[in-house]
Amino acid sequence: MSKIIVIGSCGQIGTELVLALRSIYGNEAVFAADLKDECPTILANGPYLKMDILDREAVRSFIIEEKIDEVYLLAALLSATAEKNPDFAWKLNMEGLFTILDLAKEGHVKKVFWPSSIAVFGPTTPTDLTPQHTVMEPSTVYGISKQAGERWCEYYFNKFGVDVRSIRYPGLISYKSLPGGGTTDYAVDIFYKAKSHGNFTCFLKEDTALPMMFMDDAIRATIELMQAPVEKIKIRSAYNLAGCSFTPAALATSIKKHLPDFSISYEPDFRQAIADSWPNSIDDSYAQNEWGWKALFDTDAMVNEMLEHVKV
Ligand code: NAD
Ligand code: SER
Repeated sequence: MSKIIVIGSCGQIGTELVLALRSIYGNEAVFAADLKDECPTILANGPYLKMDILDREAVRSFIIEEKIDEVYLLAALLSATAEKNPDFAWKLNMEGLFTILDLAKEGHVKKVFWPSSIAVFGPTTPTDLTPQHTVMEPSTVYGISKQAGERWCEYYFNKFGVDVRSIRYPGLISYKSLPGGGTTDYAVDIFYKAKSHGNFTCFLKEDTALPMMFMDDAIRATIELMQAPVEKIKIRSAYNLAGCSFTPAALATSIKKHLPDFSISYEPDFRQAIADSWPNSIDDSYAQNEWGWKALFDTDAMVNEMLEHVKV
């Protein structure tokens, strides 16, 4: 039985990923680790430890002593927070990755998952159905760190045989845990405000289309990618993944089908420039053809789930 650690486990993805991995591999086999003193109560069904991914020696000792087989490295600053603190974002987003890739290179870890993002693309990238292989000139520190991370993952695979796997997640939409400082966070907040206030002020313009995905799809994709036979994983930078692309106006229209009095207004801020540099929609045919990926949630299906489960 594999021993697994999820580093950055208390965030939007980590919370749900830990629960999903524990349901497959058993509660005791999946360590949750995060900078936070305590984990959310939802993760109290298995082991939790406070860990700073930037403390390279402490991370190395734990992973070697516990004989961890698989690492899911989620600790990072996201796009909006990273723009406010670019030096630290670069440090956090890159140094942790090297610590884990080196452990795998030395044979201490068998498999690594490290998430990339649609932020690897930039203003010169084709915006509609953005291809897997295309122009990539990211203009945010977050996107630059993700693009550099992709290059290093591929390098460690090619040079050292490290089994590292990655996805360019779109903006993720969930109700079990809140998002942590991204440009796509509006697409979660809108559901809380729709249910509590009946209106929402969006920090992006109404016609800003972005690639998005419901968290259930993202968690399933992550686990399917990590469980896929090694010969099916041909891309060692990161796979494009598509879920449901929409604009704030289209999302509001879908919400109004359930809450007819809901209203939305727009006050774009610094995140508009970030969103403008990203694709509208993604071509994920490589993921479909190579390891059988298929998204299940379109915008209306995602809206149904969110409005049913968001608690205010
Ligand atoms: P999040 O901000 O919600 O969670 C990150 C977690 O990492 C937090 O719990 C935080 O406490 C922890 N952390 C921060 N610094 C740490 C440190 N030094 N040591 C240990 N833990 C630390 O982020 P998320 O949305 O869950 O994203 C996880 C990963 O997925 C990130 O790499 C992010 O770039 C990527 N991603 C997320 C999205 C999205 O929409 N959520 C989209 C694309 C890519
Ligand atoms: N959802 C993420 C962000 O907005 C995309 O990587 O930062």
